[in-house]
Amino acid sequence: MIKLGVNVDHIATIRQARGVSEPDPVAAAILAELAGADGITVHLREDRRHIQDRDVEILRQTVKTRLNLEMAMTDEMVAIALKILPDAVTLVPEGRHELTTEGGLDVALLQSTLKQKIALLKQAGIVVSLFVEPDIDQIRASHKVGADYIEIHTGTYCEVGSSVERREQLQRIELAISAAKKLNLGVNAGHGLDYRNIGPVVALAGIEEFNIGHSIVSRAVLVGMGQAVREMLQLLKR
Ligand code: PXP
Repeated sequence: MIKLGVNVDHIATIRQARGVSEPDPVAAAILAELAGADGITVHLREDRRHIQDRDVEILRQTVKTRLNLEMAMTDEMVAIALKILPDAVTLVPEGRHELTTEGGLDVALLQSTLKQKIALLKQAGIVVSLFVEPDIDQIRASHKVGADYIEIHTGTYCEVGSSVERREQLQRIELAISAAKKLNLGVNAGHGLDYRNIGPVVALAGIEEFNIGHSIVSRAVLVGMGQAVREMLQLLKR
C-alpha cells in the first residue's frame, strides 16, 4: 500500500507569521495521524523560518507513526538529528533565499561529505533518504554513499506546462524508480504534488511513500473555513 507522509511545515509558517503559539504543527500532526497519515515530515531549516527546534522535540515524543526530519547536511543539523533520533532523515539542499527546496541534492558532487554524515546517522539507527532529481547518475551516487532511500523530486513534473513535457517528466521518474530498485534503494517521492497532478505519479509502480505538504495544508485551510466561521458566529450568539 502506498504511504502518505504529511509535511506540516506550513502550519508553522502561519504561526510564525504572527509570532504566537498557534496554529501548532504538533496539533496538526496528531490530526493528520488520526486521519490515517503514515508519517509526519518536518523541515527544520537553518533559518528556522517555520518549524522550530521545540516542534521537532515535541513531535519526537508525540508522533505515533514515523517522524521524518528533512534537513540540510550541516554539522548543526546532524547533531540535532543524533540528539532527537527521528525515524528517518531526508537530506535536502538548502538555499537561504529560496521560498521552498528548489532542486535535488547534487549527491555526485558531495559524495565524501555525504558518505560520512550518512554513516553517522545510520549508526544511530536512523533511516537515511536523499532528495534527488530523477537522474540516473544521482541515483547511482546515492547508492554509493550508503543511502537507504531516495526521495524523487517531483517539482519539475509538477511545474511543466504542456502534456508532452509532463509525459517526458513522468518517463524520467519511471526510469529513476527502476534504476533505484535495481540498486535496492527504497523510493519515495515529493514536492509540488497536489490533488490534480498526483494521479499519473501514483500510477507508476514502485513508489513507497509520498511526502506532501503545501497542497494538503492549503486544502485544510479552505475546507475548514466554513466550520471556523460557524463556531465564531455561535460565540456571537448568532
Ligand atoms: N519532500 C521534500 C524533500 C521537500 O523539501 C518538500 C517541501 O518541504 C516536500 C517533500 C513537500 O513538498 P510540498 O510542500 O510541495 O508538498
